[in-house]
Amino acid sequence: MCGIVGYIGSKQAEPFLMEGLSKLEYRGYDSAGIAVFNGEKIVVEKSVGRLNALREKIKGHIPQGNIGIGHTRWATHGCPSDVNSHPHVDCHGEFAVVHNGIIENYLELRKELMARGHHFASETDTEVVAHLLEECYQGDFAVAVRAVLKRIRGSYALVFLAKAHPDMLICTKKDNPLVIGIGQGENFIASDIPAIINHSKESYILNDGEMAIVRADGVEFYQTVSGEKFDKEIFTINWSAEAAEKNGYEHFMLKEIHEQPKAIRDTLSGRLDITNNRVVLNELNWSLTDLQNFHRIFIVACGTAYHAGLVGKYYIEKLARIPVEVDIASEFRYRQPIVDEHTLVIVVSQSGETSDTLAALKEMNRLGATTLAITNVVSSSIAREAQKVIYTMAGPEIAVASTKAYTTQLIVVLLLALYLAGLKQTIEPTEMEKILCHLRDLPEKIDMLFAQTETIEKLASHFKDKNDAFFIGRSLDYAVALEGSLKLKEISYIHAEAYAAGELKHGTLALIVPGTPVIALATQRHIHEKTISNIKEVKARQADVLAIVPRDNTSIEQVVDHVFYIPETVDLLAPILTVIPLQLFAYYMAVARGCDVDKPRNLAKSVTVE
Ligand code: G6P
Repeated sequence: MCGIVGYIGSKQAEPFLMEGLSKLEYRGYDSAGIAVFNGEKIVVEKSVGRLNALREKIKGHIPQGNIGIGHTRWATHGCPSDVNSHPHVDCHGEFAVVHNGIIENYLELRKELMARGHHFASETDTEVVAHLLEECYQGDFAVAVRAVLKRIRGSYALVFLAKAHPDMLICTKKDNPLVIGIGQGENFIASDIPAIINHSKESYILNDGEMAIVRADGVEFYQTVSGEKFDKEIFTINWSAEAAEKNGYEHFMLKEIHEQPKAIRDTLSGRLDITNNRVVLNELNWSLTDLQNFHRIFIVACGTAYHAGLVGKYYIEKLARIPVEVDIASEFRYRQPIVDEHTLVIVVSQSGETSDTLAALKEMNRLGATTLAITNVVSSSIAREAQKVIYTMAGPEIAVASTKAYTTQLIVVLLLALYLAGLKQTIEPTEMEKILCHLRDLPEKIDMLFAQTETIEKLASHFKDKNDAFFIGRSLDYAVALEGSLKLKEISYIHAEAYAAGELKHGTLALIVPGTPVIALATQRHIHEKTISNIKEVKARQADVLAIVPRDNTSIEQVVDHVFYIPETVDLLAPILTVIPLQLFAYYMAVARGCDVDKPRNLAKSVTVE
């Protein structure tokens, strides 16, 4: 988490720094700050709260200068406050630094530095970096930065500004992303592409162990350990600038929900070969022998991506008949999973930067597994670390609550399952054909769902004052229930639990009292009657039940209080339709409760700490 930016060029630095930070607020937004060199000294301005608080604070005395750095914070060490905000400076204001990540040995370093007379202003881990730089500096900025890197342990993306070197910024990274946008007579540094996309499509993506000296007219790259200079390839960003704007929608989340038909079309593009009744995944090029080598598959991910993994398990086991285990990345990496060269590990990550997922992936590579990443961000750390990559084509997702990333992840896991099933011939050609045709028609069906938005708004206004909600379903519906309940919790702060419908009676039914909201998903025909029995169990306790069912299932109206119909499709594809009303429901509930939809409390989109 945390967003960092840097500017050097002929223009004033502050406008880019503030605009860049506004594009990175999804990475953290409890405080923000900037440091600009004004020709005489480094001027630091910071404020607790959203970026707007900083904007207000500097009104009338905006720091002037052509070089600066900025930061938007998601607190790890030290509460959100003015002093704990970045940038941090050394004892004499000679250096300023912004940091994303965690310096693990900061306590011992802090103690040492204090014993040598350094004065600390904040409680953060980052401040040790500024003081270390002060100690290591003997006239050569880059040499000093390299010496600092030898002393610190942990994860970082760092940008340094030095008063004595107003013609350069130095940046470096380990396990946290950094991108450098190339301008004309100016250059930009940022944690992520949305911050620079309005200014440049040409960029450099920094790798771990690399350091860049960024000047107004060029960028030089060095290996941090050896100091060896090297050239880096330019990476062209293929996202449009508008894709990172709200385009008239009130919130990014609503815009991204509505972008799902396009995101799905883009993700399917070139991969559905209906004429030859097959899925094309040129990224893989696996033979049947390669597949026979996979004795089992792990899917590893966090948050919403983990929920996509649960659906993926169902798809792969049903269609390709390979055993799949799904794990939360932060658990997986520490539980000594049985992994060897006969294991395929699939990591799913929208950002491609989630620390736990990345660490699990690195460990799996070390253990000799075949690794495959499903991610949305080209050249992200996870994309680079995995042996194979399949990209979701969702475009930039800015809202913290993931929507289009999830549905495109479902598309990719289904394509993968069909690809494996095709190779293994575990699917009948007629079944393959049916699924491929329904997949092609899916975007249109999502558009049909949007026509029923008003129904969801009314339901949200009906349920908005409740404190708890339950989401139930069986099989694939259960996996989607988990995602629906996460959406509701994270943006509307309503306590929500997802339950396998058949499991309710083993304890949780005790919590169902008259009026308790229950959102029941019943799209899977093979267990339809069982699900209906479970719905009747909650109805018997006078729960207030909303059922989400296929259009032909009108008999449900006699059982529940509210019904939302999804268009006809094959059961396997129902999750991709069912989740849309759940996303809209969470959205309108959050709006009705006056919550900040795009920036929910305590969360960040890209979680680059453990
Ligand atoms: C955070 C976000 C979630 C996301 C999860 C995993 O918790 O708030 O929306 O699902 O990280 O992120 P990833 O980028 O790896 O998919």
